[in-house]
This record gives sequence, structure tokens and C-alpha cells, in this order.
Amino acid sequence: MSRVLVTGATGALGRVVVRQALAQGCDVVGVSRRGGPVAGRVEAERVDVRDRDAVQRVLTGARPDLVVHTAYAQDDWATTADGSAHVALGARAAGARLVHVSSDVVFSGARVTYSERDLPDPVSPYGAAKAAAETAVAAIDPSAVIARTSLVMGSRDSPMERRVHALLDGTATGELFTDDIRCPVHVADLASALLELGRADASGVRHVAGPDAVSRFEIGELVAARDGLPPAGLRPGSRRASGVPGPLDVRLDCAWTQGQLRTVLRGARTFLSDPEALL
Ligand SMILES: NC(=O)c1ccc[n+]([C@@H]2O[C@H](COP(=O)([O-])OP(=O)(O)OC[C@H]3O[C@@H](n4cnc5c(N)ncnc54)[C@H](OP(=O)(O)O)[C@@H]3O)[C@@H](O)[C@H]2O)c1
Repeated sequence: MSRVLVTGATGALGRVVVRQALAQGCDVVGVSRRGGPVAGRVEAERVDVRDRDAVQRVLTGARPDLVVHTAYAQDDWATTADGSAHVALGARAAGARLVHVSSDVVFSGARVTYSERDLPDPVSPYGAAKAAAETAVAAIDPSAVIARTSLVMGSRDSPMERRVHALLDGTATGELFTDDIRCPVHVADLASALLELGRADASGVRHVAGPDAVSRFEIGELVAARDGLPPAGLRPGSRRASGVPGPLDVRLDCAWTQGQLRTVLRGARTFLSDPEALL
């Protein structure tokens, strides 16, 4: 794999994929909606994934060996669902392998623990768009990898890290839910796994998240302890009682995928207690 195109290259995950691909000696092309500097000499080109022709042009022009599709917009179906179909069509036209990043939000949480064989049952518009994207990608390119992940953490860019810090320093108020449970993944582990899956003879759904199922409140406590900050600003709450819509407890069973990877997917209790792990 020598030429990698990363969509969403200016995003929290995309930036780390770009950095790792550069470190592996790849030529890297980054694209994003607004463009801008990413890492090293990589400057993201402005490409809106909602524009099918623009996506086709950049992919056939760049002729990548691998496309890692991270771009999404939580509240925009056209970006998340249609955009993923456009990227899959463009990657196929360019003869590139595709690793499509999906999410545990395709699940409702009714079963709590989900394997790669479980079918999506989304309960939010964002989850429905990610599920639609999975279906489009698999139909357009059955050889694509669909990598479902969970809460992405481990860098100062992480919205969850920023929220915990805002609660700890009093610039924000609110609760951290004890019944909102996910399997966070370190962004560097996720990026490494995506590139490894891109090089592997793999296709179809893979689960790429950490082995520790933790609540938002436990994440807050772990971040406070790691950073030596008093946890007084952290207030526990119940998502069920608050009525905030969306899945409560969703755990990706990653054992099968982890068994195929050299990349070790660390658990949140491990990487959030190690100050050296913070990017
Ligand atoms: N963050 C999490 O906890 C989490 C959990 C599960 C799954 N995921 C998945 O991980 C992936 C990456 O998430 P992230 O946290 O890195 O996202 P992020 O930081 O919000 O970055 C989103 C990226 O998508 C780009 N983008 C948005 N709309 C676009 C459009 N219409 N056309 C082209 N590019 C567009 C943005 O470009 P601009 O900067 O130029 O606007 C940005 O580069 C997503 O597929 C998401 O579903 C994330």
C-alpha cells in the first residue's frame, strides 16, 4: 500500500490516520469539506463528499491504493449516508481498496453486546445514516472493510476529553451518565487497525473498539485521576431518567477482529490511566 487517500483528514481520527500513514512511508492525500493543514506537508483538499462528481474526480485523479473514509457529519444524512456511497463508487472506479469507518450507533443497545454478525437496529437519525452507509458500501464494493468503532478518545481533540475538562474546571455544568456505556478506543489504536485492515485480505464488517465497557461517569473519573485533577466537578446522572434519546448501553464485541490484528486495541481503563498515552 503506497498511496492512501483519507477523507475527513482534518478530523480527530483522520489526522491520526494521515500521520500514521506518513510514518509508514505512504504517499498521503487528504480531503475534507473545508480543506486545510493536516500533518507534515499534507494539506487537505476541499472536497464535499455530498458532491458525487467531485468525489469521483478526486479519487480517479489521485489513484490511491487505499481509501480510508472517516468523513461524516452527525446531523447531515447527505454527508454520512450519500457521501459514503459516493466514496465507495469513487474508490471502486479508481480500483482502490476501501476501509469505511462506521459506528456502534447503528445498534439500539437492546442486546447490549453486539458481534460483527449482528444487524443494525438504529434508534437515532445518525445511527440510521451510518446503517444506510454500511448497506450502500457493502452493495457497491463487497470487498470493502466496514469498521465499526465506538467512542474515540486518547487525544486532546476528543470531544469527551474536552467535556470532562470543562466540567472539572467549572467552565461547563451538567451530569455524566452512569448508564450510558460504550467501549472507547484509543485514536492511535483505531488508526493503526484501519491501516492494517486496509493492507489485509479482509472484507465485510469488523469491530474495532476497546475491551473495557465504561460509563461516561467512569470516563470522567479516569480522566480526572490521570490528570491529577480533583473530581469534585463531576456529577453522576442517569441518561434513562434524563430522557436524552439514543442508545444507552452498547458494547462492541471485538474479539474476532482483535484475533486477526497485530494492533492491540487497548481498553479505556488502560489508556486513560496512562498520561503517556494522551496524544
Ligand atoms: N468521535 C467518536 O467518538 C466516534 C465514535 C464512533 C464512530 N465514529 C466515526 O469516526 C469517524 C471520524 O469521526 P471524527 O470524530 O474524527 O470526526 P470529526 O473530528 O468531527 O471530523 C469530521 C471530518 O469529516 C469532514 N466532513 C464533514 N462533512 C463533510 C463533507 N460534507 N464532505 C467532506 N468532508 C466532510 C470534516 O471536514 P472539515 O473539518 O473540513 O469540515 C472533518 O474532517 C466518523 O465516521 C464517525 O462516524 C466516531
